[in-house]
Amino acid sequence: MSDGPRPAAPDPAPAHVAIIMDGNGRWAQMRGLPRQEGHRRGLEALRRTVRNAADLGIRVLTLYSFSTENWRRPMAEVSFLLGLLRRFVENDLAELNEAGVRVRIIGSREDLAPDLRGLVERAETMTQDNAGLTLVVAFNYGSRDEITRMARNLARDVVAGRLVPEAIDEEMLASRLDTAALPDPDLVIRTSGETRISNFLLWQAAYAEFVFTPVLWPDFDRKALEDALAEFHRRERRYGGVGQAAEAKVGVA
Ligand code: IPE
Ligand code: IPE
Ligand code: MG
Repeated sequence: MSDGPRPAAPDPAPAHVAIIMDGNGRWAQMRGLPRQEGHRRGLEALRRTVRNAADLGIRVLTLYSFSTENWRRPMAEVSFLLGLLRRFVENDLAELNEAGVRVRIIGSREDLAPDLRGLVERAETMTQDNAGLTLVVAFNYGSRDEITRMARNLARDVVAGRLVPEAIDEEMLASRLDTAALPDPDLVIRTSGETRISNFLLWQAAYAEFVFTPVLWPDFDRKALEDALAEFHRRERRYGGVGQAAEAKVGVA
């Protein structure tokens, strides 16, 4: 047995990691395959990432799977993506439940087909008491849509006399978003080299760290996730303050 210094405890994983899973189409295109094949492989990356996130101690994992703007894609691709989600919930729900995963879906449900809506509700109800990883699937999600729906609800309450405008504060707004009761994301990862937010968690990511990786989503693996976490740990979060180094200096002055 060695008496040498013990390795430092690893940094705790960020509590909430959100991922913009991008690059399925390009992954397929590079291989001369149809875009659908990229989406199929993207679903495998999603499954892998859920396992890796739980294993690395992440408490909440949010995955952007379909945006309110993705309806602009060709109908065949939209149908394929909806079918994938349907199959994911149908096939994986029991296993996720067994692994203690709590599923939440954020996004607009109003215009979803009734069967899809039913599936989404079943996934949430079945797993609501689980204590493991919270898996938040952003589906038919757009931040502007989410904030617009929230504003409409607030206005309704004011008109109905249930709410006075003076009672509205940041906490109340946050509690009326789809992400109510979830912590804000600490880290937002986007794959495929794009460096934009594409209408994702605009309110919630106010102080998130962003990591952009060139890895295409179907290739996203354990190492890619660990690299993003390592990058996160090199950052200094200041929340508008002066940062730890400057604070220490002020302390000795
Ligand atoms: C991400 O991959 C999946 C969704 C947006 C649903 P893309 O389909 O956007 O892939 P690229 O960006 O065309 O490569
Ligand atoms: C963002 O990716 C949406 C999802 C990952 C679900 P997109 O591929 O739709 O984003 P843009 O169009 O390149 O901004
Ligand atoms: Mg894309």
